[in-house]
Amino acid sequence: MFEKYISKTRKSRALYERAKKVLPAGVSYGLRYFEPYPFYTARAEGSKLFDVDGNEYIDFWLGHTALILGHSPPVVIEAVKKQLERGTHYGTAHELEIKLAEQVAKMVPGAEMIRFTNSGTEANMYAARLARAYTGRSKIAKFEGGWHGGYDALHVSVKHPFNIPESAGLTRGALQDTVVLPFNDLDGVKAKLKGEEVAAIFIEPVLGSGGAVPAEKEFLRGIREFCDEKGVLLIFDEVITGFRLAPGGAQQYYGVKSDITVFGKILGGGFPVGAFCGRKEIMERLDTTVYKRPHYSFHGGTFTANPITMTAGLATLKILKDGQLINQLNNLGDKIREQIKEIFESASVDVQVTGAGSLFSVHFTKREVKDAYAAFMADREKLVDYHLTLIENGVFFLPTHAGALSTAHSKADIEKLFFETEKYAKKCKTA
Ligand SMILES: Cc1ncc(COP(=O)(O)O)c(C=O)c1O
Repeated sequence: MFEKYISKTRKSRALYERAKKVLPAGVSYGLRYFEPYPFYTARAEGSKLFDVDGNEYIDFWLGHTALILGHSPPVVIEAVKKQLERGTHYGTAHELEIKLAEQVAKMVPGAEMIRFTNSGTEANMYAARLARAYTGRSKIAKFEGGWHGGYDALHVSVKHPFNIPESAGLTRGALQDTVVLPFNDLDGVKAKLKGEEVAAIFIEPVLGSGGAVPAEKEFLRGIREFCDEKGVLLIFDEVITGFRLAPGGAQQYYGVKSDITVFGKILGGGFPVGAFCGRKEIMERLDTTVYKRPHYSFHGGTFTANPITMTAGLATLKILKDGQLINQLNNLGDKIREQIKEIFESASVDVQVTGAGSLFSVHFTKREVKDAYAAFMADREKLVDYHLTLIENGVFFLPTHAGALSTAHSKADIEKLFFETEKYAKKCKTA
């Protein structure tokens, strides 16, 4: 089954054998492993990844969807080069963190105050604590299939079967303090939360690893109203959708406001980042000059607001802020979703193509995909086969994961995606 891949990736295979001895599964993040072994990247530029065997891949994974300007965009690289000479890490207050915070505040509705972290996981973790501190409630709620990173209380019901712990080592307390809600089902949410006092509802406005499934607008509005009624904070995890769906992220795209918004990925301009932001009245709980122990909510970290990340983030947001490029990518996303669906349907392959803006995902199923359950019930073996076939032919999706678009993707890149998809669809038809 993997013959072609194996014959093209001999050096990667040797690296994998070496890697396995020092890195569990030969990788630094379990999801980067795929069968028979991952290729190892030697360099990246624009829309392309190049592996150690000299293979070239059009990259639709884009560093976990972080690279909306593609790999190493010259504007960002130039800014970072200059900053490298001024210092890589200060560990003190500096102006770049103010500039990036001001830029985020200009772009994102309700982002009066911001704190930076080094990852989306951290940002969600601190957001959960802040919500608890602000409301005085312990429990939090999240959606089935929602991925918010590896923090215990949010690392619940991510993958099907949803009732099995996602990891060994999670405490009973963490699991008991998290209420799991059905996505795109307002009545279901209300039923689940009847009699519960939760500090916050965490939601990815478009489920990412849960299948690139967008929340319905009415559903998000309903959740907003419910939160207002019950004094629950609504937390948008916009680690994927932030600065991608619109300059102001999902809040702008949907016209629904959150109380706290969490960012990551794009905000770092290709460097490690996370952030959480919201109204002053909420964010002030992090202010040690206003709140003393035990009333303030802790956040911090050695590398927070690293000047390299701040520089790259600023350069990136300046390019995205007027929304022009984002609109272009969103239009291209519409076209891709439509065309991929058409390609499979004309080969009589049952398919649903989900996503929003410049995110898209294929599900081999007849059933409409409105939640993560439906995404997991689709034929995932076929999805792996489709993605591996694309990889063998120079188009990279991390198997089973959604694709993302960048401004570096060319017309030829998109044509190649369609061409290879058509070849695959024809193969399915004759099989
Ligand atoms: C929606 C969402 N939230 C949080 C995270 C965690 O971010 P990080 O991997 O930077 O810790 C991710 C990562 O993929 C994500 O997609």
